[in-house]
Amino acid sequence: MKKIMLVFGTRPEAIKMCPLVNELKSRPSFEVKVCVTGQHREMLDQVLNVFSVKPDYDLSIMKSNQTLYDITSNIMLRIKDVLEAEKPDIVLVHGDTSTTFATALSAFYSQIPVGHVEAGLRTYNIFSPFPEEFNRQAVGIISQFNFAPTETAKEHLMNEGKNPESIYVTGNTAIDALQTTVHSNYTHEQLEWVGDSKLILITAHRRENLGIAMENMFKAIRRVTEEFPDTKIIYPIHYNPKVREVAQRIFKDSDRIRLIDPLEVIDFHNFLNASYLILTDSGGIQEEAPSLGKPVLVMRDTTERPEGVVAGTLKLVGTEEERIYMEFKELLENPSLYKKMSHASNPYGDGTSSKQIADILEEKL
Ligand code: UD1
Ligand code: UDP
Repeated sequence: MKKIMLVFGTRPEAIKMCPLVNELKSRPSFEVKVCVTGQHREMLDQVLNVFSVKPDYDLSIMKSNQTLYDITSNIMLRIKDVLEAEKPDIVLVHGDTSTTFATALSAFYSQIPVGHVEAGLRTYNIFSPFPEEFNRQAVGIISQFNFAPTETAKEHLMNEGKNPESIYVTGNTAIDALQTTVHSNYTHEQLEWVGDSKLILITAHRRENLGIAMENMFKAIRRVTEEFPDTKIIYPIHYNPKVREVAQRIFKDSDRIRLIDPLEVIDFHNFLNASYLILTDSGGIQEEAPSLGKPVLVMRDTTERPEGVVAGTLKLVGTEEERIYMEFKELLENPSLYKKMSHASNPYGDGTSSKQIADILEEKL
């Protein structure tokens, strides 16, 4: 029996790893161990509850306003004993967070093979997104199993000289959850408040956008909202105090803007489905929105998810106030543009990604 340890620590990693945890646990050929770093706390626990995943280890590293030094060093110091006690046959990490990087490096130091879920995403600009682009490239050097969501991601890895036999195109596990969470008869008191208005859903948290860029985004959104009385904004704000301060300052005193706490993932998926359009700097939302056919204005200068741009659902609008203002306004005023961006497509797979990864591990490990 092979021992697989999955390590994750933030909300998006948990959303994409929990379906895989449950799939691997359903197979008698594996002994499955889950270690969470606790890089996030409340936002991680929300997801663990939804998927009924109980970690075997919790490194509990989160502190308020943590720096990249805090996260990376604390994980490395605390995970060493876990890796040495468990000696797994493989450690699976996900994506591009500091948890991902610190864990992969630790497994490498302990000479334990690493499998990278959501491998091969690239902007080739290590400052955007920061530090995520560096993290995923660095993990790509270490990993011996690379589960790429798309052919484009696979090509990046091939061009970087990775062994083709280590790369598997499996779709993205983000879509696995989406198959079961969205319901047409879903209701929620916040959606009742939206009523017949157009729901504009906002999220923002990127480290490189904290400060001026985030102020620009929120000012642009506020200006457009004031000009369009048929819109209502819901913004489930990330718990980062630096994000909360800017959001609360710029969006205060508007009766058509609601700032709420982060939603559980089932609720959030249904809010996505009920929305007219989304403005975000998130990575994961860029994967989910195309499947739901929801237009997304991506408030970033680069994206590692070009598939959604090619499919037409995503548009990169940068972080300048005037540009976001113009693009947002145009999407509300131009029905043919809106229609063009509202087509559902599935560039990130059909929701069987966890099964595919488990099959590969059963065969190859
Ligand atoms: C992290 C990841 C980013 C990912 C994002 C998903 C890194 C460097 N960044 O960024 O790639 O897109 O998660 O959301 O790995 N906080 C809480 N409770 C929580 C979560 C966060 O209070 O449940 C607060 C804490 O004050 C914490 C701060 O938010 O210090 C920032 O969290 P952190 O994980 O450092 O950065 P994120 O922006 O969440
Ligand atoms: N999400 C959620 N609740 C929210 C906002 C987002 O569950 O209030 C989900 C969303 O569906 C997606 C993921 O969180 O799956 C995206 O996480 P985030 O934007 O924090 O990180 P990123 O994807 O940018 O790394």
